[in-house]
Amino acid sequence: MKQSLLLAAIVILGLGILYACTELKRSKPILPLSEYERMIAGRLDADYVGTETCLAACHAHDRIRAAFDASTMGRQLRRESGLPLVDCESCHGPGSLAIKGITRELVEENKRKGIKTECNYETLIDIKNLPAVAKSLICLKCHSGNATFNLHEWNSGVHAVNDVSCSDCHRIHAGPDLKVKPKETAAMCLECHQDIAAYFKMPSRHPVAEGKVYCTDCHNPHGTTTEKLLRADSVKETCTRCHGEKEGPYLYEHADLTDDCTNCHMPHGSPNNNLLAVREPFLCLQCHQSHRINTATGESKTPALKGFFFTRCTNCHSQIHGTDIPSPGGKGRFIQ
Ligand code: HEC
Ligand code: HEC
Ligand code: HEC
Ligand code: HEC
Ligand code: HEC
Ligand code: HEC
Ligand code: HEC
Ligand code: HEC
Ligand code: HEC
Repeated sequence: MKQSLLLAAIVILGLGILYACTELKRSKPILPLSEYERMIAGRLDADYVGTETCLAACHAHDRIRAAFDASTMGRQLRRESGLPLVDCESCHGPGSLAIKGITRELVEENKRKGIKTECNYETLIDIKNLPAVAKSLICLKCHSGNATFNLHEWNSGVHAVNDVSCSDCHRIHAGPDLKVKPKETAAMCLECHQDIAAYFKMPSRHPVAEGKVYCTDCHNPHGTTTEKLLRADSVKETCTRCHGEKEGPYLYEHADLTDDCTNCHMPHGSPNNNLLAVREPFLCLQCHQSHRINTATGESKTPALKGFFFTRCTNCHSQIHGTDIPSPGGKGRFIQ
């Protein structure tokens, strides 16, 4: 009795370890690049037969073909031969085994019998089930960083590192337009980034839903050298591309605060007006004490007379982003 209990315990422990191992394996295998290359080479015993031969007998893919032929990628021809530069087999792998034995006659005969003729998909590359790295490699064999400038930082980008592949965003067979249009980005990006969607419904927000600003105005989904996939080199540069008047330099600057606009602003949306991270006056009171102004010329009596303004500090400090004009006291107080 005791023995069988012990045995059961060992078996359970063993299964546990086995499960833990498969979990580890599933979490993220890091393979040498050559492994991924092998996955996208296709069956070595198959030959390339060309789109014509591949699809001649079969109408099933007419829509896919028509859309692809009309796309920029499908329209590229080889200079020497005049044949298409990119065809079905460029991504799906050599097709001779897939169509072996399929003739127009067979297709007709099957149709009479009510049978659907299908090619042998299993001999093609199983794109859908490839790891993300391999999926992207299918595209990158042509779209190297040099050929497509935008992709220079792809490999180190947050998306690539987190197993997002090209075809997660570029739906190859959705239609002739392979590009992701700016106005489509919000819906597409928010499908995965649902936590960000809430910000764009807040009272103060960048008008992304209205189609006036796009995710890709600020982010480059292909990877960047900056954090958070920002398109420009810093947060400030990202913002001042559109809000140029906040760029400076000014004679009186708010220390180095405006180097990062997110010291005070939320980038996407906020419950406070002007996309402020914290409502006034509390925004300012995080770093400053309040004060009373008790002379007509507005001279400050701080710190001698301390009090609280439960009002917007920017009612008076209206040039909060910087100014060239000194305050009445001859200092940089962002009053005018
Ligand atoms: C640029 C690469 C590329 C080219 C060229 C290409 N495909 Fe695809 N195809 C894909 C990818 C990626 C998928 C998988 C889509 C997914 O993940 O759902 C796919 C999926 C498919 C499917 C599965 C059904 C579907 O719509 O998802 C069929 C059928 C297909 N392709 C046929 C073709 C035919 C026919 C051609 C030539 C006219 C072709 N493909 C050219 C990349 C390509
Ligand atoms: C056999 C080479 C080849 C492969 C493989 C390939 N492409 Fe292309 N692709 C091209 C060429 C050539 C063009 C047209 C010239 C250009 O825009 O750079 C192009 C254009 C594009 C465009 C721009 C379309 C436009 O309207 O400007 C996108 C987007 C694109 N490809 C995405 C992909 C994705 C995603 C994959 C992988 C699923 C892929 N490509 C695989 C060669 C290829
Ligand atoms: C997270 C979504 C996303 C992923 C992943 C992605 N793209 Fe894009 N891609 C876009 C968007 C959005 C655009 C529209 C252009 C823009 O505003 O940057 C675009 C544009 C392009 C273009 C058009 C040319 C250009 O530079 O504007 C090509 C080519 C392209 N992508 C290829 C690829 C390839 C190849 C991969 C994988 C290595 C890939 N993309 C991965 C979203 C994505
Ligand atoms: C297929 C799902 C998917 C799509 C579509 C997608 N993303 Fe992502 N994105 C991810 C994942 C996964 C990460 C990494 C984990 C994380 O930070 O959430 C990421 C990370 C990011 C980050 C960086 C976060 C950080 O901490 O550095 C930004 C910014 C981003 N995505 C913007 C975009 C934009 C803009 C688009 C549309 C053009 C987009 N994403 C489309 C899945 C996606
Ligand atoms: C006006 C510019 C701008 C627009 C438009 C914009 N973003 Fe951002 N986004 C930023 C900035 C700046 C950050 C970095 C914030 C930080 O560092 O605190 C950021 C951060 C992110 C992050 C990372 C969030 C985190 O907590 O790490 C994601 C994901 C993201 N944005 C997705 C999107 C998506 C999706 C869209 C479109 C629906 C979008 N962004 C539109 C400027 C923008
Ligand atoms: C692509 C252009 C663009 C970029 C880049 C951009 N903005 Fe904006 N911003 C806008 C537009 C458009 C509005 C709305 C103006 C309006 O409604 O009159 C706006 C509005 C604002 C507002 C006022 C919001 C309100 O509720 O009235 C603030 C604050 C702001 N942006 C800050 C930023 C910050 C911070 C960044 C960088 C993270 C940034 N913007 C990047 C275009 C941009
Ligand atoms: C010290 C905090 C702080 C920093 C840092 C800051 N802002 Fe502001 N910003 C504010 C306040 C407060 C308001 C509201 C001003 C008002 O109501 O007069 C505002 C308003 C705005 C507005 C909308 C009203 C207007 O004046 O057009 C824009 C756009 C804006 N900021 C952009 C930026 C940009 C771009 C940066 C970075 C270069 C930045 N802000 C950095 C505090 C800040
Ligand atoms: C993240 C901290 C921080 C926030 C938030 C902040 N400030 Fe400042 N502020 C500073 C720093 C640092 C200086 C420079 C102090 C120095 O040079 O001694 C400064 C300088 C000033 C000055 C010039 C006077 C001086 O002591 O040099 C004024 C006026 C001022 N801030 C007003 C505001 C107002 C109004 C707000 C809210 C809209 C605000 N600040 C938000 C950190 C902040
Ligand atoms: C009624 C107008 C008014 C309001 C409201 C106001 N300030 Fe001031 N503030 C001034 C004037 C005027 C000065 C002095 C200007 C000068 O030196 O010439 C000043 C000076 C300052 C200074 C410089 C400190 C010093 O000792 O000289 C800081 C910091 C400051 N204010 C922060 C704030 C903050 C934070 C708020 C909001 C809680 C605020 N102010 C609200 C008018 C105002």
